[in-house]
Amino acid sequence: MKAAVRQNYGPPGVLHVKVLQIPVPKKNEVLIKVKATTVNRSDCGVLTGKPWAIRLFTGIIKPRLKVTGSDFSGLVVAKGDDVNEFNISDEVYGFFDQGIGSHASYFCVSTKRAILKKPTNITHEQAAASLEGAHYAFYFLEKVVLKKDDKILINGGTGAIGSAVLQFLKYKGFHVTVTCDTSYVPVLRSMGADKVIDYTLEDFTKLDEQFDFIFDAVGKSTFGKCKPILKHHGIYISSELGPYWQNPLLALISPFMRNKKVKFAFPFSIQRSMAFINELVEKDQFIPLIDRRYRIDEIATAFEYVMTGQKKGNVIISFS
Ligand SMILES: NC(=O)c1ccc[n+]([C@@H]2O[C@H](COP(=O)([O-])OP(=O)(O)OC[C@H]3O[C@@H](n4cnc5c(N)ncnc54)[C@H](OP(=O)(O)O)[C@@H]3O)[C@@H](O)[C@H]2O)c1
Repeated sequence: MKAAVRQNYGPPGVLHVKVLQIPVPKKNEVLIKVKATTVNRSDCGVLTGKPWAIRLFTGIIKPRLKVTGSDFSGLVVAKGDDVNEFNISDEVYGFFDQGIGSHASYFCVSTKRAILKKPTNITHEQAAASLEGAHYAFYFLEKVVLKKDDKILINGGTGAIGSAVLQFLKYKGFHVTVTCDTSYVPVLRSMGADKVIDYTLEDFTKLDEQFDFIFDAVGKSTFGKCKPILKHHGIYISSELGPYWQNPLLALISPFMRNKKVKFAFPFSIQRSMAFINELVEKDQFIPLIDRRYRIDEIATAFEYVMTGQKKGNVIISFS
């Protein structure tokens, strides 16, 4: 079987596709034959070991897990003696943001991880693409209490996170304004965006309207720049730490701010976000945005593309 292996943290060039033995599941593990996985922004952090804080979870000097990959959709082809939740031939999908070794044709995963049976109304590629960005999108929305007539702006609607936040908000019936570049204006309209701002033509921070919430899903703006377009008790949330880690720091002092505030999402339980995502997928209310597809042999190129910060939604590694 093929797997994307590295010995050290580093750029995509440290990854080599190797032929390894198919692993054997331990008592509480299932062996997955991977049909599709993605290269996402969490994978980039696990590959490079940056920002450094990630190494607290993935290995300080060297990565604990040599095979990259954090999400998958595939088939259960073998299972350990203690596994009762899944059977051979079950179609399953799952995610673990610190890495799960899924950039491989086969891998073993503990059933204690976030794994669910794949809804039958989506493909394996769509299932793999439903996880990472949507997980962070779920925790953006968990940080806030939204009211019926709130006006919401998403900066960066074409990212994996932004395109998921947009669909989640439209599912809940909110009025959403979103930014993207010219080529994706029609796509975001088709996803239900009420207003789409082409960021190559217009700076959203100069709009003459105000919002209750600004979700900066690409972390390209700051609280300071967004303040003029936030309403009196408006809230700014970013997917990035911001210059000098200002977003988590501002979130810490926000309870003492009288007016506009910053919140920062620390996503924890993947089981919770996956349960929500799974429900929406089953109701045909969430279809992940998919950009390009690569083969496992092209994985370094896929990482290079994702690291440009220009992917539209999700980048698939397909084993079909
Ligand atoms: N907090 C966390 O734990 C966590 C986890 C995962 C990701 N992240 C961060 O969250 C951010 C988003 O991740 P993602 O996977 O959703 O991103 P992504 O899929 O890599 O997408 C970024 C998207 O934003 C668009 N974009 C770039 N500059 C823009 C701008 N100025 N205005 C509007 N759109 C712009 C890009 O397309 P164009 O360039 O063509 O416009 C691209 O489609 C990343 O910065 C990532 O590092 C944080």
